[in-house]
Amino acid sequence: MDIREVGVIGLGTMGAGIAEVFARGGLSVTAVEADSGALARGMAILDGSLGKAVTRGKLTQAEYAQVIGRVRPAPAMASLAGADLVIEVVPERIDIKHSVVGELDRICRPGAIIATNTSSLSVTTIAAGSAYPGRVVGMHFFNPAPVMRLVEVVTTVLTDPAAGQAVTALARQLGKTPVRVSDRAGFVANALLLPYLNHAVRLLEAGHATREDIDLAVTGGFGLPMGPLALLDLIGLDTCLAILEVLQREFGGTRYTPAPLLRRLTDAGRTGRKGGGGFYDYPSPAGGSADGRHADLPPTPGTVTLIDPAAGLAGEAGGSHDWSAGPHSERAAELASVIAAAGVSVTRNAAHPSDLTIVAIGQDGGVLAPALAAGRAADAVGLHLVGPDLAELVPSPLTSARALAAARALIARLGLRAVRSADGPGLLVGALLYPHLRDAVAMVADGYATPEDVDIAMTLGCGYPRGPVRMLADAGVGTAVEVLRAMHAGYGDPAFAPPPLMTQYAQAGLSPLDPGSGPAVASGLRRART
Ligand code: 3HC
Repeated sequence: MDIREVGVIGLGTMGAGIAEVFARGGLSVTAVEADSGALARGMAILDGSLGKAVTRGKLTQAEYAQVIGRVRPAPAMASLAGADLVIEVVPERIDIKHSVVGELDRICRPGAIIATNTSSLSVTTIAAGSAYPGRVVGMHFFNPAPVMRLVEVVTTVLTDPAAGQAVTALARQLGKTPVRVSDRAGFVANALLLPYLNHAVRLLEAGHATREDIDLAVTGGFGLPMGPLALLDLIGLDTCLAILEVLQREFGGTRYTPAPLLRRLTDAGRTGRKGGGGFYDYPSPAGGSADGRHADLPPTPGTVTLIDPAAGLAGEAGGSHDWSAGPHSERAAELASVIAAAGVSVTRNAAHPSDLTIVAIGQDGGVLAPALAAGRAADAVGLHLVGPDLAELVPSPLTSARALAAARALIARLGLRAVRSADGPGLLVGALLYPHLRDAVAMVADGYATPEDVDIAMTLGCGYPRGPVRMLADAGVGTAVEVLRAMHAGYGDPAFAPPPLMTQYAQAGLSPLDPGSGPAVASGLRRART
């Protein structure tokens, strides 16, 4: 099917971005918004984005004129009579969607395709609002639409296969990567992304960490382009809340129950960037930077007492100043060598009048007991290194402000960035990461998506440098299972329990990406064990 003329209904952030994608792809676009103010704002978004592309040298002035010339703003759907494809990007309410597709029945020619950019509603239900449900297809873009390469193409039991094929071919022609998915709430990407974003809000409202540290834990700890709170602001808190409500209705359980803070901010009109503020204020440099805190740090400690709970050494009074002389865990040895390399002496002597006591904790945390056992509770801080340049800094309830400041000074001296975390299982990076990876495995176990689909969706839809399944393989399935079990035991939330497929991978020493290790292998493992 030759698609040359398209219509976009709804010119908010997503609609304007989609109109830009079509126009840059050489198609004639009719951009419809009934409200004249919203139409002008939508055209301004589109124009601003194209203007930025010119400034960055991605588009010449002549190309800019051609692209903008292909977009015809229109106040009514009647202008869509000649369109080969119309995509609706109106608010996520089934009554509004039904009224749009019903009206398009009367306006569009019989062969036209009606696409919906719904992010969570059932495409089948939307199609039921049309007298011609066979031509209704999901075409789900990601924000910012001109940048993100993924398009989820959603077909239903009612969809005419030719319509699905035409939308898939169109997405390719526009330089996107189409992924065919069936009609399930949140499809692949949102069903994985939203519970992870929601969990970040819960950690913030529980005081587990600050907003900056939550975002830095994700960008610094697992390399995603944006932290979850900055991303919520980009997508829109109201949009995220609506998607979570749909996911909650479809799947139940605690993971999709919207965090009260998300609802409160939305109710207060703090909907994110488009509302001038959400978790952060706009315009302003968003995202987490702990660097500003370095300005008023105390001097770096000259000597640090290192406690190694993994080796059962709660600081030995009278022990050697040569840290490596006694038994120690690999984790503590790494910490000792990093600290010593920065010119700070390290002792295992709990009675040494050192300036700071560091507890070499793992992802399971546990600062207080070894600090008390060493008689150093007030000046002990837990430290956990994550990746090449991030450290999780974990005070106990008895840690003094002076010790915390000294620990920050030490981390700055080591050339690391710090995130402060409450002392809970997974600390901050693990608490955000492992439930997200768990959800990915659960989706694979359900048979809704393959490990490859999951990774393509999250890399191309959300800019992840590695997909969740690859991240799981890199982190080690066994480690993920351990942290999740500790989170399940610690918080009592069954949403953290590792799914059987994950524990089977761990027991078999397999990763979901190993050849032939899909759900079929896992069910083979199940059979072998029964
Ligand atoms: N419109 C057009 N282009 C944009 C843009 C926008 N709104 N924002 C950024 N860009 C372009 C820039 O022009 C630049 O292009 P160039 O490389 O050709 O010069 C490129 O994107 C990178 O931009 P910046 O250097 O300004 O900024 P960053 O490198 O920080 O990248 C980002 C910005 C692309 C938004 C990146 O942070 C990212 O990938 N974030 C993740 C976004 C994400 O997860 N989106 C999915 C959300 S879920 C969703 O939309 C589904 C829905 O149903 C809820």
